[in-house]
Amino acid sequence: MGKLLVASQLNETFNAALAQHAGDVEIVTVPPGPPSVLPRAAEVFVAAPFRKAGGALPPAPPPGWPFDLRWVQLVSVGIDFYPEWLFQGPVVTSARGSSAVALAEFALAAILGAAKRFPDIWIDRAERWAPTQLSLVSGTTLGLVGFGAIGEALAPRAQALGLTVLAVRRSDAPIRAPGVERVSSVAELVERSDHVVLAAPATRETFHIIDRATLARAKPGLHLINVARGALIDDDALLEALDDGRVSLASLDVTYPEPLPPGHPYYAHPKVRLSPHTSVHTPDTRNNLAARFAENLDRFRQGAALADVIDLARGY
Ligand SMILES: NC(=O)c1ccc[n+]([C@@H]2O[C@H](COP(=O)([O-])OP(=O)(O)OC[C@H]3O[C@@H](n4cnc5c(N)ncnc54)[C@H](OP(=O)(O)O)[C@@H]3O)[C@@H](O)[C@H]2O)c1
Repeated sequence: MGKLLVASQLNETFNAALAQHAGDVEIVTVPPGPPSVLPRAAEVFVAAPFRKAGGALPPAPPPGWPFDLRWVQLVSVGIDFYPEWLFQGPVVTSARGSSAVALAEFALAAILGAAKRFPDIWIDRAERWAPTQLSLVSGTTLGLVGFGAIGEALAPRAQALGLTVLAVRRSDAPIRAPGVERVSSVAELVERSDHVVLAAPATRETFHIIDRATLARAKPGLHLINVARGALIDDDALLEALDDGRVSLASLDVTYPEPLPPGHPYYAHPKVRLSPHTSVHTPDTRNNLAARFAENLDRFRQGAALADVIDLARGY
C-alpha cells in the first residue's frame, strides 16, 4: 500500500506527532483558511478553524473543492468555526475528547480556586497577615450541561473531591457514569447546583441556553463556568444575575465574540473571571488528537466506519 497523503493546517510539531502515531503517511503542511489548492492526491485534510467565534465564514467553497479529499479531520471539537459547506462533502471527524481532561481540570481549578479564594489569599506584605474564611467543595453539587467527552472526564474527578454530580444531555442515551444523576432540564440543573459547567456544543438548540428565564431559577450563589462556547450564554442576562447576586461568580474561558471588544463589561466586572479561550492549551491536547487521528486512520485504511463523525443536522 502506498503512502497516504495528508494535507495539514497544523504546525510542524503536531505534524511530527501525527507522523509518529500514524506511521506510513506523508504529511504536507498547508496554510490556514479555506484551501484554494491542495496537493494532488491528498486524501485527508486536517483543518484548523476558519474563523473565531463571531467572525465571518467563507460562504462558498473554493473552486475545485473537495479536490481529491475523502476525509476531513477538524482540529476542534465544535463545528461552529467552520462553514456549512465543509460538512457537505467528504466525511468530517472532530477532535472530540482530545482536550477533555484539560477542560475538566480547568473547570475543577475554577471551582477550587473560588472555594479557596485564589488568588486573593496570597499576601505580599506583613500588614495583610490575617486569615480569610474559605469554603469546602466537598458536599456541594456540580451540574453539567452536556455529558460528552468533557462531562465524562469531569464527573469522576469532581466525585473524587466529594461533589455530587448532576447532568443534562440532549439525547435519551443513558448516563452510564456511576453516581451521576440525570436531570431532565437545564432549569432543574441550575436550581439544584452550586456550580454549573457548560460542556455542550454551540447549536441552534443551545444558543442562549443560559438565559434570563433559566438564571431566574438559579440556586442563589451559583458559580457558572463556561469552557464550551460563548453563544450558550445570554450575556445581558448573566450580567443582570451577577449584579443582583443570584449568580455569585462566572468563570468564562469562552465568549461570543472572541476576542471580546475593548470595554466589554466582562473585562472589568468584579464577579467575572475571564480567560482568553485558554483551557484547551496543553501539550497533551495535540498529542491526543494525533493519537485519535491515527486510530481513525487505521479504520479509514480498512474501509471501516470512522469514530467522532460530525452529524451536521445535530450540530456536533
Ligand atoms: N474551550 C475549548 O477550547 C473547547 C475544547 C473542546 C470542546 N469545546 C466545546 O465543548 C463542547 C462539548 O465538548 P465535548 O468534547 O464534551 O463534546 P461531545 O462529546 O460531543 O459532547 C457534547 C455533549 O453536549 C450534549 N448536548 C448537545 N446538545 C445539547 C442540548 N441542547 N442540551 C443539553 N446537552 C446537549 C450532548 O448530548 P448527547 O450526549 O445526548 O448527544 C453531549 O453530551 C464542544 O462542542 C465544543 O464546542 C471547547
